Amino acid sequence: MDAMTRIEQAMQVALGTTGGSPPRLAAALRYAVFPGGARVRPRLCLSVAGACGGHDPAAAEAAAVAIELLHCASLVHDDMPCFDDAAMRRGKPSVHRAFGENLALLTGDALIVLAFQTLGQGASGEGAGRLGALLAIVAGAAGMPFGIVAGQAWECEPQADLAVYQRAKTAALFAAAAAAGAAAGAPVGQAMVAGWQRFGEHLGEAYQVADDIRDVLARPEEMGKPAGQDHHLGRPSAVAAFGARGALLRLKGLVASAIGAIPPCPGAGDLRGLILLEVQRLLPDDISRRAA
Ligand code: IPE
Ligand code: IPE
Ligand code: MG
Ligand code: MG
Repeated sequence: MDAMTRIEQAMQVALGTTGGSPPRLAAALRYAVFPGGARVRPRLCLSVAGACGGHDPAAAEAAAVAIELLHCASLVHDDMPCFDDAAMRRGKPSVHRAFGENLALLTGDALIVLAFQTLGQGASGEGAGRLGALLAIVAGAAGMPFGIVAGQAWECEPQADLAVYQRAKTAALFAAAAAAGAAAGAPVGQAMVAGWQRFGEHLGEAYQVADDIRDVLARPEEMGKPAGQDHHLGRPSAVAAFGARGALLRLKGLVASAIGAIPPCPGAGDLRGLILLEVQRLLPDDISRRAA
């Protein structure tokens, strides 16, 4: 089964546990998760797990789903009027536009809780020896002081360091995807968690810089979300800090750092290929040319 099918099936199973919920909340959860976007974080998690030996596929899958659920939650909350006030997400009205602000708030909350339920269930049994490490990795990326919550809170400060802000709001979840993949895929206790975290952090920062470039140079129809938001909202962004050309150079440097930071493992070559394909997906040649 290819990775995308495996992820979609596992996401369906996770969402299947919402039976008996208030129907509009259950509908809003499904709306926030399906159809998905690129599912880049769970794909990364499964790829790293495979590259490290694929020792515990159930734990890897649970971690991948938990991370994607946290990502979906972050998008629901990020789009709300108190943050970016975005009307569109993944080519359709954002959750608060479709279901109202009260249900959007609860949808994000419920997805965060569901993420940890999924991880707890999937990494029990044979994976129990890995659960402590996986919980610490995933929770760290969601919360304080360096996870998504902190990243969004930097927007509420009068000043924020660009790299600190982007590492927290975006790179932390990529770092967790890589580290959790390693913690699930390597023999128990042998994952090089810190090394994989460093690799994922470079990759996630590159991803956010690419998103900043797209915010300026891509069309809303291409992205399925509004363009020009960073300038409109006065957000720190790589383009505001370095210009489009400078941001492109920074992106290339971060991608090179990510590739250079891949810890030694049997699947390093495949991972390198995956990263280069993702960069091409995010910044096709016409956008790169315009940035340059
Ligand atoms: C959007 O993430 C938010 C950022 C961190 C840039 P993605 O670009 O991964 O969104 P989806 O999941 O594919 O829609
Ligand atoms: C992305 O922030 C990180 C999140 C925590 C959602 P952005 O505000 O830059 O992402 P988009 O452009 O809305 O996807
Ligand atoms: Mg935002
Ligand atoms: Mg936003």
